[in-house]
Amino acid sequence: MISSNSDLLNVSPYEALASIYDSVMSHVDYSSWAQFAFDILSDNGMPAISEDNPPYILEYACGTGIVATILSMNGCRVDAWDKSPEMITIARSRSVVLENAPQFSVKEFLQLDAIERYDAVLCLYDSVNYLMELEDVIDFFIKVKTALKPSGLFLFDICTEFNSKRYFSSSESNEVFEDFSYNRNSRYYDDLMIQENVFTIMFEEQPDKIFVETHKQRIYTVKTIRRIINKTGFDLLEESDNISRIVPTKSSLRVHFLCRKK
Ligand SMILES: C[S@@+](CC[C@H](N)C(=O)[O-])C[C@H]1O[C@@H](n2cnc3c(N)ncnc32)[C@H](O)[C@@H]1O
Repeated sequence: MISSNSDLLNVSPYEALASIYDSVMSHVDYSSWAQFAFDILSDNGMPAISEDNPPYILEYACGTGIVATILSMNGCRVDAWDKSPEMITIARSRSVVLENAPQFSVKEFLQLDAIERYDAVLCLYDSVNYLMELEDVIDFFIKVKTALKPSGLFLFDICTEFNSKRYFSSSESNEVFEDFSYNRNSRYYDDLMIQENVFTIMFEEQPDKIFVETHKQRIYTVKTIRRIINKTGFDLLEESDNISRIVPTKSSLRVHFLCRKK
């Protein structure tokens, strides 16, 4: 597939990955993830589904919009935002046939400027880890708090340092599909607590181009996240090991935090 004079193109995160993201993530059980989110929010006071006044949810870093679309199909009113225009284009095309489609927009975390609008804010699948500075995490959480109605809920997850050290400290994987292939090179810099994943993507249709995306994520400890939750005016209601609703352990790969605006 690669010709000897292929151009190596460095592109922004998700610029090329967006079009293959759903295939790369085909192992992820988004239906169960959306159900987990819906159940944990409902059990903690999110308004019940109703035609007149459905729960109003903002999903930040919604990616290709799978969870947002499932929640809409189940009767929630959903706004879903993401920094990547390429991811948002795919999200819109997924839900175009729906009557009650999510309202997708291209927005960065720190552009959140809604005031007391949402019953719940979601930010799933390691997305908070894209905030590289602790100050930005704090700013984002404060903006989330402002965007929530009184007693509104914030559900997000982080990938843990255990996950980075165990599976992504120095690894390489690749997959070949019918019309594209990609390689993922992962490295964890534990002195900096930075997870780096470099994707090299080739499309059958563009044999003269190789797209390279470098993704950097900051790994935060559970202790740090708990401190920020408290500092930014939330009560921590539940921590879950992945989507299990079981208390996380030192070997959890992903931890969800459910918080309520104080
Ligand atoms: C691992 S993907 C998760 C996407 C989706 N939540 C899912 O479950 O598939 C991380 C997402 O975070 C988005 N993202 C990264 N940095 C962002 C930022 N500063 N503001 C908003 N979204 C961001 C990316 O564009 C990407 O769609």
